[in-house]
Amino acid sequence: MRYDTMIDAIGHTPLVRLDLPGHDEIHGYAKLELQNMFAMKDRVARQVILTARRTGELRPGAPIIESSSGTMALGVALVGTALGHPVYIVTDPRIDPMTLAKLKSLGCVVEVVPRMTAHGWQSARLERLEQLRRDLDGAFWPRQYSNPQNPAAYRSLATELLADLDHVDVLVGSVGSGGSLCGTARALRERLPQLWVIGVDCVGSVLFGQPDEPRRLQSGLGNSMIPPNLDHSVIDEVHWLNDHEAFAAARDLAREQQIFGGNTAGSVYRVMRHVARGLGPGARMVGILADRGDRYADTVYSDEHWTRHGLLDLPKMDSPAEVEYGEPVSSWAYSYLAGARDVACQGV
Ligand SMILES: Cc1ncc(COP(=O)(O)O)c(C=O)c1O
Repeated sequence: MRYDTMIDAIGHTPLVRLDLPGHDEIHGYAKLELQNMFAMKDRVARQVILTARRTGELRPGAPIIESSSGTMALGVALVGTALGHPVYIVTDPRIDPMTLAKLKSLGCVVEVVPRMTAHGWQSARLERLEQLRRDLDGAFWPRQYSNPQNPAAYRSLATELLADLDHVDVLVGSVGSGGSLCGTARALRERLPQLWVIGVDCVGSVLFGQPDEPRRLQSGLGNSMIPPNLDHSVIDEVHWLNDHEAFAAARDLAREQQIFGGNTAGSVYRVMRHVARGLGPGARMVGILADRGDRYADTVYSDEHWTRHGLLDLPKMDSPAEVEYGEPVSSWAYSYLAGARDVACQGV
């Protein structure tokens, strides 16, 4: 495979069949978005920045500012600096040293907000971002939570899936901004209207009607606010995992499938293994695995971190409990979204 630029090399990620013991008749695939230069959001940064340059919203050489705790920052750093833009990243103290090193090595200015505000770290970062927007002339903010180019970026992922598989019955993806799952699902449904879409969230996130717990340890998925890019109407089913379950799932993914991923990749895998039990022979299920495990060496993959945060004191369920949407959960549970229960995926 040969590309002229790092931007052209974004995407084209491998789709790998998982070995699901006891479910040989199910075709479960991992879409390895973690094989991008940085991670899944490289696609979003490419789509958002190229579109803004085309429309004139982003002028040549103008600064790009973004609020992110990881993958979006890396994507913006990659695409923004490759096109000659100064890149400012606003993040919070949960940023890991590896991401920080990558951002700085590409020449980004990284600002770490010191404390949470009314809606946790998210609002603290957004407040600082607003200030930068006022201070930096012509600053462009990709607004991953509301920019329609975020979900639009995943048309390329859907096209790759259809080229590889032709047909998909079930799509599983984690939800932070909502862009990857909603964008991929909408594009796939143009050809596959029966597609069953499963979102994966964390206990303590408000995205699907749960109470906020800003001190949750999982990163990437979950949110303390509901982003406009999350379109609940395209999602049929949601699963929540607590920190213990998600971190353990990432370790299982590495041990069982030789895929060293982050906690969101782990949670998606855990849900796929469960969902496989209810699918008919020949069903095709795809999970989107967003990023590699390297930057979680000191958290997800650290026994010391588990001990410090009492992770083993949290319950770890072998299978999820079905709950009514809106009923608070503290360990692995799932719910159907409005209208989806009647057509639950037994038909697949
Ligand atoms: C590692 C990881 N997984 C999953 C997600 C969720 O993706 P989305 O924002 O498209 O919902 C993110 C988002 O930042 C992420 O960084």
